[in-house]
Amino acid sequence: FLVGGAVAGVGAAAAIGIDLALTAEKDAAPVASGSTPLDGAEIVPFYGIHQAGIDTAAQTYGTFVALDLLPEVQREGQRRMMKVLTDDAARLTRGEPALADSEPELAIAKARLTVTFGFGPQFVARAGGVGPSWLKPLPAFSIDRLDPAYTGGDLLIQIAADDPLVVAHATRMLLKDSRSFTTVRWVQQGFRRSAGAYPERSMRNLFGQVDGTVNPEAGTVDFDEVVWSSDGWLAGGTGMVVRRIRMTLDTWDKLDRSGREQSVGRTLDNGAPLTGTQETDDPDFDARNALGFPVIPEFSHIRRARSENPRERILRRPYNYDDAPTGGDLSDSGLIFAAFQADVDEQFVPMQRRLDELDLLNEWTIPIGSAVFAVPPGCAEGGFIGETLLA
Ligand code: HEM
Repeated sequence: FLVGGAVAGVGAAAAIGIDLALTAEKDAAPVASGSTPLDGAEIVPFYGIHQAGIDTAAQTYGTFVALDLLPEVQREGQRRMMKVLTDDAARLTRGEPALADSEPELAIAKARLTVTFGFGPQFVARAGGVGPSWLKPLPAFSIDRLDPAYTGGDLLIQIAADDPLVVAHATRMLLKDSRSFTTVRWVQQGFRRSAGAYPERSMRNLFGQVDGTVNPEAGTVDFDEVVWSSDGWLAGGTGMVVRRIRMTLDTWDKLDRSGREQSVGRTLDNGAPLTGTQETDDPDFDARNALGFPVIPEFSHIRRARSENPRERILRRPYNYDDAPTGGDLSDSGLIFAAFQADVDEQFVPMQRRLDELDLLNEWTIPIGSAVFAVPPGCAEGGFIGETLLA
């Protein structure tokens, strides 16, 4: 059975033009994320200038929780809550139970857990603070079909780790400790490739595309400029956009391989631009085919997403979602598109505007949720997240 399966696999690969020898050769090449076997003991430090979970190589599982403040919770309550949640997050990331942890055995694995907090417009207003001018709902885009069930929120908590039980436990502890201050507005659960499952530089989304090739690299000056704010209480923090984007896999199925590649401007095989051979090759947007048409079409996603203005760049840190289909569909899948940038209005909005005007990928993608948060800087031991706003 296994041999038959393998042979069938080779047949299928040949049918869609994948060179298995080439793939095997690539397997041997040095690779970055997603290739190191999972080490449950690995800790991402909680304390620091920046919150963890942004320049951290994306973990396999990510849960995004948006909470709404109860009407009576004001600055003092917000401060108390952030102190408790900071303490929980610091302990759990070290593999220690939270205070009054109801399942302490679940806290032992660390699995690169990070907990990242973001403040919505209302959170900052309630604290009596002044937020950055971009801290507001994004402008309406014509492609949007926003569902209030995935839109807005006062406090965002991104909980990410390489183990799903670690994420579930941390989420529960944080929700229990925020219960007397907030109600749950929405929860979105996502995943990427498991550590060690397959050696690839960037993750793949559920369209099968290599996703994450062009992104600022953590630890570089470039990354710092794209991501970190230097503005008042937000200095050392960043702006976060969370868009829930449905990907209509059932209609994508009907598109042939060449159409799929043209819609993005990259190959499905290894994510190389249509003018190159390797994932990291620079796209040549001037190249033309024998008929005189651009090799990377004008309507392709990478052409439309890219700007000549170097300021218009973002850090994409998305997670796939794949929920139970309803109403006769075969899938309810897409991306939890989390993007970080110092200034949402200057960086994210012009990009999303261009994609709204023209992007062939829009045929198979529908934004159904949207929220914007100011992610405060990190803190030192003894401090708490949000202290620059609330202390
Ligand atoms: C690039 C998929 C939504 C911004 C890419 C690439 C893929 C992709 C496959 C090429 C590889 C890479 O560089 O990562 C998708 C899918 C989306 C989506 C499936 C929706 C479900 C968005 C949105 C934005 C965005 C909403 C921003 C508003 C970008 C940028 C690039 C990119 C900036 C890099 C462009 C460059 O080469 O300079 N996306 N994307 N994408 N995408 Fe998206």
